[in-house]
Formats: sequence, structure tokens, C-alpha cells
Amino acid sequence: MNRRQFLASAALSGLASACGSGAAGARAPRDPAAFRTELRVPPLLEPEVDKDGTRRYVLTMQRGRSEILAGKPVETWGFNGPHLGPTIRAARGDRVQMTVTNRLDEASTVHWHGIRLPAKMDGGPHQMIEPGATWSPHWTIDQPAATSWYHPHPHGKTATQVYRGLAGMFIIDDRTTAELPATYGIDDVPLILQDKSLAEDGSPTGDPLKGTFGILGDHILVNGTYAPFVNVRTERVRFRVLNGSNARMYHLTFADGRAFHVVGNDAGLLPAPVQVDQVSLTPGERVEVVVTFAAGEQVLLRTVSGSDDIDEGDFDLLKIVAAPRLAASPHLPARLTTPTPIVVPLNAKVRRFRLNGHDAINGKEMDLSRIDEVIPAGATEIWEIENTVYAHNFHIHEVAFQVLAVDGEKPPAYASGHKDTVYVPPKSTVRLAVQFGRFTDPATPYMYHCHILRHEDSGMMGQFVVVEPGTESQVPRTITAHHM
Ligand code: C2O
Ligand code: CU
Ligand code: CU
Repeated sequence: MNRRQFLASAALSGLASACGSGAAGARAPRDPAAFRTELRVPPLLEPEVDKDGTRRYVLTMQRGRSEILAGKPVETWGFNGPHLGPTIRAARGDRVQMTVTNRLDEASTVHWHGIRLPAKMDGGPHQMIEPGATWSPHWTIDQPAATSWYHPHPHGKTATQVYRGLAGMFIIDDRTTAELPATYGIDDVPLILQDKSLAEDGSPTGDPLKGTFGILGDHILVNGTYAPFVNVRTERVRFRVLNGSNARMYHLTFADGRAFHVVGNDAGLLPAPVQVDQVSLTPGERVEVVVTFAAGEQVLLRTVSGSDDIDEGDFDLLKIVAAPRLAASPHLPARLTTPTPIVVPLNAKVRRFRLNGHDAINGKEMDLSRIDEVIPAGATEIWEIENTVYAHNFHIHEVAFQVLAVDGEKPPAYASGHKDTVYVPPKSTVRLAVQFGRFTDPATPYMYHCHILRHEDSGMMGQFVVVEPGTESQVPRTITAHHM
């Protein structure tokens, strides 16, 4: 959030508390006593380890029933269960193989959002998995510690499939980084934020492809749990927060305004913790925070209204209940990691992308058979994203980038780390330093797109290939789109 928006959102939330209601559709924070369901924590997915050390993770996409509202079972979709998916955890250097079976009755894909890997393994719209089929991508984890995630990516269907519940977290560890809370489910807790519109019977309703943004629901789930509480037993807890919503943007803060520390952005840890009292997150973005608790206290995590349409409404999200006695936690390290700097060469190529309306980039709708950009392997480029009207964000597959400027101003310190998804406020321009990877494949593209899924599905997406430097001009600009 830049300063202008921060002020706007601060003004709005001040207004909300003064008169008891926020912008249209907002609801006052609920009574803490209403947070009665224990937060579900997705199980860790245990891999099978092959003789050669390859860790094999098995995922099945399936339909099921779950109770989003207690006592009201409804149809939801998930991986290895009825809703959402297990958390995958792997370390830098691991050889991994995913075995993904589609037990839905429609085709899908599984994209590893934030993971650096060859285009064929990326799980974008060209790696379709037919109903009943199995897809087995494999690669070696080679990137810094980060909080990533996985979700379907079939063109035109991503919004619907994610909204039904297909999403999971993908944690990457790196043994060389500083000590942070890391005991999964105890002091290292995933928080997947997703909003739903719920019908009387408790089932998610609404058309994720309608209106300007698709769904902006008024029931916000955390890990699929509505109005949850979580018990904490340690002085400090690291929360890995993922905005897995179709369109909603969050401005996260605690009800008592306490300070906390941001330790990581999408693509890795920050060099040092940054103290904040509020962080903003658009769909697809992640943030890692460390929060300190006092024994016996309770506090609500909430989101406050902003001014950009996708962030309307004040909502309490999660009640955190600290045990009467808390186990001591290590101090927050002053240095977290030394990220490889993204150095922009003087003659860096500048590419410009114009987000106009909600179904095209640079005036062109997504075409699976068109290669929009050809990138030399290992390049660092400037990408300039200009947004003319509505709120959008921008995600690039298989890169790490740094936000150089939002309308000429530096991003806040807490969002200055390596990222793969960035907010592009209405009528603004965002300048990125993008570091591309080294996996070449002139025939298989990676995607870049708005991560508001209604926009992505209706064509606000483009394709790039990464090729051997010097071969750019020989690369065919049309490919045979694998079936859609
Ligand atoms: Cu999270 Cu192209 O996606
Ligand atoms: Cu992605
Ligand atoms: Cu958009």
C-alpha cells in the first residue's frame, strides 16, 4: 500500500469505528465469543522417499462434503480430502516428484505458484490433467525458503475451481536461514484467507466470473474454517498468511493495534524483520509474520476496509487465544537472510504491460497459441505495469521480482523483499525488477496475469517463453495449444 492508500484506508477505518459501520457491505467486528470453531490446520503431506532420495508427494483432486457453517454439510472440492489440500513441505536441494490424480469430472491442472521450475512442470493451462488421469511432474527444489502455494490453472476455469476449494500451501525450507519458529501447527501456522458468499444452506454461491471482480464474499474463512479460534502455546508465533481469495484484498491488523514483524514476502525472507501494525495482501500474495503474545491474552486478527473496491468491509478473521503459560521462543533474529540481490543492468530491457478493463493485457486477450514475450534465460528486466481503471494485481510465473516503485514511490519496507505477485492500484504504474530463471523451453510458455481470478479467466493473461540467449528471434511466436 502506498502512502495515499494507507491514509485513505486509515481514514475509512477511523470512520468505521466512529459510526459503527464501514463502507457499503461492511459489517462491524463480531463479538469475540462468536469465534467458536477451532482453526483447522491443513495436515502436512508426508512424502514417500524413493531409493534415490526422491521425495514423492501424492495428491488427488476430489469432490467431498464439508461443514463451512457448523451443522450444514455442503459440497466442496479438495486435494486428498473434501476441502483445500495438505501442506507440502520440502527443503532446498530436495528432489521432488508430484503424483497428481484428477478424480473430478472435469479437466484441471495444478500450478505450483511461486516455485522455480521448468515450464513443463509448472502446471499452467498447457499441462491439463483429464478426469481420471495422473500427472507426475518432478524437479529439484532450488530457491530460498519461502511460503508458496498450489492451485488449479485451467484457462477459464481457475476461478470456479479455486472457489470450490482447490488450494494448498507449499512451504520451502532452507537450512541456511536464521532461526524462526518452525514447528508446524504449533508456532508455525498457515493462514489461508478466502472469502465466500454463503447461501442459507451454507453452500458457497455466486458466479466467480460475474461483475467487475467476480466474488467478494462476506464470510471470510481461514483454512476453510469460519469464525475460528486458535490456541497458541509459545511466546512467539510465525503465521504464514496466504491470500487465496478470488478477488478480495486484505489489510490485516490486530484489534488492539499491536505491532508485529514481517519476516518474509512471496518469494523469500526479508534481510531483516520489519515492524508494522498493518499489512496488505492481494490475491495470490503471501506474507510471513511473527507475532508476540502475552500469557493468557486473547486478540482478534482483522481486516479493515480500504478504498479500492476489492477491500470493502471490516471483518474479524481469527481469535488467537494464548495459553495461561507460554513456552519461551527464540528471540527474533536481527538478520534473517542475505537474499541474492536482483541487479538491474544499465541496458536492461524494459517491457510495458497495460491493464485496461478486465479481460486483456496491452489490448490483447489471452490466446493459448500466442507467445507474447520471449525472454533470454537468466535475464533481469524492468517490467512496467500500468493500470488504467480497476484494481488489479500482477503475477509472473517462475521469477522473483522486486518492486522498484509504485507511481514513483518506493514500496513500504515490509514489501520490499522478493515477490512474485504485486498489487497494481487503480490508475497507477508499478515498476518491477524481474529476475528470470534459467530453464529454457521455446515451445512451452509460462504465464503472467492478474491474479483476480475473474480477470485471469476472462483473458487478462499473457504467455512468455524463456530461451537460450541469442536465439530469441528464431523462436516461433505461435504454438499448438494443447487441448482446451
Ligand atoms: Cu497463482 Cu498463474 O497463478
Ligand atoms: Cu503462479
Ligand atoms: Cu485484474
